[in-house]
Amino acid sequence: MKNLAMISNITLIGFMGSGKTTVGKLLASILAYNFIDTDDLIESKEGISISEIFKTRGEEHFRQLESSTLNHVITLKNSVISTGGGIVTIDRNMEILKDANVIYLEATARQIYNNIKHDRSRPLLEGDDMYSKINEILDTRRSLYEGAADHIIQVDGKTPEEIASLILRRM
Ligand code: S3P
Repeated sequence: MKNLAMISNITLIGFMGSGKTTVGKLLASILAYNFIDTDDLIESKEGISISEIFKTRGEEHFRQLESSTLNHVITLKNSVISTGGGIVTIDRNMEILKDANVIYLEATARQIYNNIKHDRSRPLLEGDDMYSKINEILDTRRSLYEGAADHIIQVDGKTPEEIASLILRRM
């Protein structure tokens, strides 16, 4: 197990709506680390939203931006890094994550749906049946999240404070 004193950053992975951003911000403030969100970095660098990038340039272009962002942020020190839910779908990212301290926030499809059912900001979940889409995509990614994780934290029904404290206890 890696020791907290030796860890220069914490990288959160997990499905859309599993709480990476909320928990990441909280962890960063507890540890006095920087908080970094790969989606936010991409949006501010490109000057348009993730939805717009998907719409006008396509998912593949977004994945390239995401990979180069990950490649950069992983080198930063004293940071909590929240990644986009699809980060594990690209082999190169899985390689990069091998050198990171990776926490998978594992949530059921039901919990994810409850968290984001009113949020329309995710292009991959657009359309009528968001719950089915979540299930479908989660099925294809579950083993990737598990494979990339140093620690798995089950988050259903837990508050961000409880999740942050579980993460800190694992370090
Ligand atoms: C995606 C997750 C999103 C964002 C994009 C694609 C995915 O990030 O990167 O919409 O493929 O799961 P969040 O996990 O922060 O919602």
